[in-house]
Amino acid sequence: MCGIVGYVGEKKAQDYLISGLKRLEYRGYDSAGIVTLAENGEPTLLRAKGKIINLEEKIAENNRDDKIGIGHTRWATHGEPSEVNAHPHRAGKIFLVHNGIIENYKEIKSHLEGFDFQSETDSEVLAALINSFYGDGKYPLANAVVQALKLVKGTYGIAVVSELNPEEIVVARAGSPLVIGVGNGETLIASDASALVGHTKRAIYLNDGEVATITKDSITIKTLNAEPVSAKVEEIETNLSAIQKGGYDHFLLKEIMEQPESLTETLRGRVHLENKTVRLGGPGLSEAELRKIKHLLIVGCGTAYHAGMLAGYYIEQFTPEITIETVIASEYRYRQAYIPEDTVALIVSQSGETADTLACLREIKQQGVKTIGIVNAIGSTIAREVDGGTYVHVGPEISVASTKAFTSQVIAMVMFGLTIAQAKGVKSAILYPYIKEIAELPEAIRETLQGVKDEVKETAEKYKEYEHAIYLGRDTAYPVAMEGALKLKEVSYVDANAYAFGELKHGPLALVDDRFFEIAYLPKGMLFEKAVSNVQEVLARNGHVIVITNEEKFDLPVEHVVKIGSDVELFAPLLMNLVAQLFAYYATVAKGLNVDQPRNLAKSVTVE
Ligand code: F6R
Repeated sequence: MCGIVGYVGEKKAQDYLISGLKRLEYRGYDSAGIVTLAENGEPTLLRAKGKIINLEEKIAENNRDDKIGIGHTRWATHGEPSEVNAHPHRAGKIFLVHNGIIENYKEIKSHLEGFDFQSETDSEVLAALINSFYGDGKYPLANAVVQALKLVKGTYGIAVVSELNPEEIVVARAGSPLVIGVGNGETLIASDASALVGHTKRAIYLNDGEVATITKDSITIKTLNAEPVSAKVEEIETNLSAIQKGGYDHFLLKEIMEQPESLTETLRGRVHLENKTVRLGGPGLSEAELRKIKHLLIVGCGTAYHAGMLAGYYIEQFTPEITIETVIASEYRYRQAYIPEDTVALIVSQSGETADTLACLREIKQQGVKTIGIVNAIGSTIAREVDGGTYVHVGPEISVASTKAFTSQVIAMVMFGLTIAQAKGVKSAILYPYIKEIAELPEAIRETLQGVKDEVKETAEKYKEYEHAIYLGRDTAYPVAMEGALKLKEVSYVDANAYAFGELKHGPLALVDDRFFEIAYLPKGMLFEKAVSNVQEVLARNGHVIVITNEEKFDLPVEHVVKIGSDVELFAPLLMNLVAQLFAYYATVAKGLNVDQPRNLAKSVTVE
């Protein structure tokens, strides 16, 4: 949450700052701001409420050639979205941008009595604290930053500049990501490597507890205890086309439609049809270690949690003597849960930065449990802190609503489950149907998307006036129903909730009336007939039912049936999820809402 950028070099800083902020806008869009410093230190501070386009208008009127600056796009935590609460915050001669939360800001504020606070933010308190140590700039800015950070409780990724030294930026992190882009005669910073794409391919990922002083041609990194750090320069793999809309109106549609390719990347080199096996290098577990696993703990938030839940349903179908628990990270981190022996924890996160998931990872690791990351963002904090991992490799996901990551997270975890089952000696006859379908999935996804797209668009437009929706499924279709409901509610603001079909009679059936429509998932299989009976119960109460099924013979008089015509059966719920993704997209577009940046949300939830 929140995006941070910074530039020091030979070029016009405003250009990088604004283009970087635009790339990071999905991390927050409550307000945005930049400050640049002229050669003599004179600052130009520009801030605007709302989207970056508002800031651009101000920049157009205040064009500066300054070669150094920092910027921020905000997702509000303390203080409403407003210009005065926008970053950068000024305190004396310094300016600060901050991503994270300063938990003890009230206490710190009480010690800074003489300071004239302008905003309601915790970040301004941090700026004032740094300023109290910096004063008239007799000592290096980095010293003041370190002294201040030693008093701070909470999370931060910060960038600080001083009017008195318009040649350097000081950055630091604890719990919020910060990447330094190494250029030729220029150094850039960003809270996400996507802002650096097209400027440099070389990046240094700062670790928690590190502070860096950067100039256009030097980067000095130390720990808060003044120990020097020798930084590793890594290559940024993302290319420009991956972060552009590529002809689509919205990132959400682009990301839904590119799932055949993104899943292909997840599978690359991992599925071996010739010997009917899957192989994952990343987890780094020996056959003996895999054989020993008795319990899988799967941790994630939101869509990643749903992916974990669905993967759990699959893995227990083919892996003997294993229990699986999928937990919501924000809950689990405060539970006193016992972790059984021989547990492996799967830490699921697209961004690799989600604060609650990261906190769980650290807690679980401390208990001596092996942790495996199912992560998309390469070099992210979770990816770096897990014991081993499987990247899902879906490329940047920019729309706030997660789509392509979900599909690949599920399959990456199922592949991990298959490696356990293989090591435990489960017969190929049991595992091969899963492996074969996984290999067939990218093509099945392509065909399904093409096959249902126009039909789903038309249907979504028809239902756009409803304010309530119920998503229903059972077995593997239940987590998919949860994911479908989340997608619809977060982008279209329809009050959508999911229930397991079997739970309907235990309460939710009372809701069914003309204000609601119901989306029912009916995959072929053992529970199909039972689900059909459940649909009948809804129809008997005059429900407005849309069915998604791969059963040719389905013939109940529901309002609409979306048929999935694919040979893929075990993973048919994943194909049905594509329908729900498209439905959410088209319903939102029909309502004229901002589909890529829904209100109140931001991608990569780096605060608790
Ligand atoms: C929903 C969505 C969120 C994320 C959740 C976890 O569409 O995007 O629910 O899935 O915030 O994010 P990551 O996977 O980055 O940890």
